[in-house]
Amino acid sequence: MLNAHENPSADASIERFDQAYHQKGLASQRMYPNEAMVQFVLGLFGHLAPAERQTVRILEVGCGSGANLWMLSKEGFEVYGLDASAAGLSLAETHLAKKWEVMARLAVGDFTRLPYPDRFFDAVIDVVSLQHLNLKGTSAALVEVARVLKRDGRFFSYRLSDKSCMYLRNALPMIDAATVQDIPSPLPLANNGPTSFIGPALARHLYDAAGLIVESIQTFGRTYVSGDFVEYMAIDSSLRPI
Ligand SMILES: C[S@@+](CC[C@H](N)C(=O)[O-])C[C@H]1O[C@@H](n2cnc3c(N)ncnc32)[C@H](O)[C@@H]1O
Repeated sequence: MLNAHENPSADASIERFDQAYHQKGLASQRMYPNEAMVQFVLGLFGHLAPAERQTVRILEVGCGSGANLWMLSKEGFEVYGLDASAAGLSLAETHLAKKWEVMARLAVGDFTRLPYPDRFFDAVIDVVSLQHLNLKGTSAALVEVARVLKRDGRFFSYRLSDKSCMYLRNALPMIDAATVQDIPSPLPLANNGPTSFIGPALARHLYDAAGLIVESIQTFGRTYVSGDFVEYMAIDSSLRPI
């Protein structure tokens, strides 16, 4: 794991999310899964019969309060969730059990030191979580994702792109070339601490360095009522063959 000096973004962001989980509970995050993630997972494994699905291991890094986990579990996969916030995981546990009557194997941990063996998962998913690392942290997390993926495993990441207005229009204090210290109100996604914005070329570069091949990048744009534009990339990747 990188220490706080090498990766100051990690601690600041975790603190913000942890506080939000304590103060607002489930209301601090979405309750329903990310649609692009649903398409990705069901595109890969949707054809499998229930018995086969039980053998498919899926990890969500930064699972928070479980908005994506419950759906994966309902669909019959062996589901794992990791988050740095114990408060987020506690919400996820209750959310899954009480509302959806399913479970997932949850662990407190950091993106840059995943507590799982090598080649363990058929798929790893990230929904707007790794974007809270700076570039150094992102590189370290991608190496960890590559380590825990099976040789034919896939990694899905849904994250902010560098076409988003917060990155383009505002001279915000930066941690590195891609990472702002924080997004101020009233901009979208404000006050979540460090947030990084990468484009397709940088994504390919970072993935390549971690031994991952970008298979495809889809973009999704959202214009808020305020006129603020935010773009996300859905990145599908696999391990580089040996
Ligand atoms: C925006 S939330 C997304 C939660 C969930 N993926 C969803 O779609 O609802 C980001 C999550 O990443 C977690 N997180 C941030 N930095 C982390 C780190 N370095 N290691 C582990 N989790 C981290 C936060 O605690 C938070 O739960």
